[in-house]
Amino acid sequence: MTNASATPQIAAQNPHFHDPDWWRNAVVYQVYPRSFADADNNGTGDVQGIISKLPYLADLGVDALWVSPWYPSPLLDGGYDVADYRDISPRFGTLADADELLTTAHRLGLRVFIDLVPNHSSWDHPLFQAALAAAPGSPERELYYFRDGRGENGDLPPNNWGSMFGGPAWSRTTNPDGTPGQWYLHMFDVSQPDWNWDNPAVPALFDDVLRFWFDRGVDGFRIDVADAMAKDPALPDVTLSPFTGHGANDKHEGSPQWDYPGVEAIQRRWRAVAREYADSDLGERVFVAEAYLDPIQRLIEYVTPDRLHSTFNFDALLSEWSAESQRAVITKSLPAHGAVGAPTTWVLGNHDTIRVVTRFGKPETGTNFAQSVEGEGWEDPAERTIRMHPIPTDVELGLRRARAAALLELSLPGGAYVYQGEELGLPEVEDIPEDLLDDPTWERSGRRLRGRDGCRVPMPWSGQASPFGFGTDAQPWLPQPAAWADLTAEKQASDPGSTLSLYRAALALRRARPEFRTGELSWLDLGADVVAFQRGDALAVVVNFGSAPVSLPAGEVLLTSAPLVEGLLPLDATTWIAL
Ligand code: NOJ
Repeated sequence: MTNASATPQIAAQNPHFHDPDWWRNAVVYQVYPRSFADADNNGTGDVQGIISKLPYLADLGVDALWVSPWYPSPLLDGGYDVADYRDISPRFGTLADADELLTTAHRLGLRVFIDLVPNHSSWDHPLFQAALAAAPGSPERELYYFRDGRGENGDLPPNNWGSMFGGPAWSRTTNPDGTPGQWYLHMFDVSQPDWNWDNPAVPALFDDVLRFWFDRGVDGFRIDVADAMAKDPALPDVTLSPFTGHGANDKHEGSPQWDYPGVEAIQRRWRAVAREYADSDLGERVFVAEAYLDPIQRLIEYVTPDRLHSTFNFDALLSEWSAESQRAVITKSLPAHGAVGAPTTWVLGNHDTIRVVTRFGKPETGTNFAQSVEGEGWEDPAERTIRMHPIPTDVELGLRRARAAALLELSLPGGAYVYQGEELGLPEVEDIPEDLLDDPTWERSGRRLRGRDGCRVPMPWSGQASPFGFGTDAQPWLPQPAAWADLTAEKQASDPGSTLSLYRAALALRRARPEFRTGELSWLDLGADVVAFQRGDALAVVVNFGSAPVSLPAGEVLLTSAPLVEGLLPLDATTWIAL
């Protein structure tokens, strides 16, 4: 079954649209629908808003967009709490709007990923509501994790697992007669009950969800917490976190909660569904996994043959801005992915992390999380984030580094992800008033962690004052800084030195020069403070992390993130050179 979007009339600007391997080198632009563009002017972005900006994305030169969840949802975790996997939230539009988006994007040469959130639903999902209404032990409850509590009256959670957003991972239900009932598991917010993937009805339900969207012309799915879903059925206690008093979510090997062996069968099953479309006009559909796993070999398992196509390279996102750290992540990632025939991806940010401009403008550039993350070697994540926000950001320095990082990211073999606003050099908004904070992390951490709202502030498109063309005059759901008047897409489009112009030029070159697709990476030695390599024989990339300006290989400078100084590459700058 196909619709109009499966027979796209492709604009000439994306010559790789029909390449079956398009996803291997794709630059994917992440759209966070709430904050992208507000066509109906109610303060929240929507699908028609995204459609209105598709020409902007095509001009920018990306290959695909990934739309974060657009499903019906109470938005208690920004839409990662899905109440219906086969519809569009009325807040964002209709299924007809989604179809229009797919058709328009394909016509413009853009592929479209959407988000699959398979670990948990919203508590508003009809199947969870049915489970709550049903008796303990009923088939309805078997779709989720319901358990009796421990202790004499069952008033202790069934185990010690902790929620990723703080507090326990279990909440207690109330029986129809008002007495306390069983508990249900939620690895994230209380409003996000975990599906029980050991129940065959759950995989079957998600097969249908995949086909529902693939049939409409969706090109791929980003899989939310792709290392969750499977759990040790014994639900054993885990090591206590010294910081939270609940189980530590440190994702160690052998964890009963994360990367549990059952995820493999789920991933293989999804790949088989994607392959059903191999002969369709849009070809086999693809997956990108969201999984923070260490060491990299565990992640690489996810992209072995017959499992998923690609994963986000969060090691890149977690890396400090230093020659040593950037070289190390490249050296580690490329052979590891190459060994299994999968492309590496490069990531600087997303809707969960402190924006790259701000991260690289802090003294500690490797710290990225605006939410709670724990693991071996991490300090108390809460304290870490609390400490991080008040440390002043050198935005000018951060922007300079973010521009250099963008040219590094876009020059490396494999795919790349651009989070909305990165192309405008937007900083994190660190001073959102507390009463406007929306991320569940804020409340669940006892108002210690501000959460992720600072990277989700609506986009500035045009004009001199908020809402900067996001809507026409409605107050955006999160306030935009007045200083963003200088960062609007409109303003930057006409400035050849702007970050938007840099991205456009970089993406055009990336498409025009075959080395970016096929050139082997070979290292150049320009000193310890310089990351330098060739792609093929005729293209060099140089990034200077040291204080001394660097002399460049002979050739034509194609692009620089900062002006050369007397022919030398200054600190915190990247250049691309045709040799
Ligand atoms: C990862 C998503 O990116 C994040 O925004 C969400 O809160 C969690 N998964 C839970 O779905």
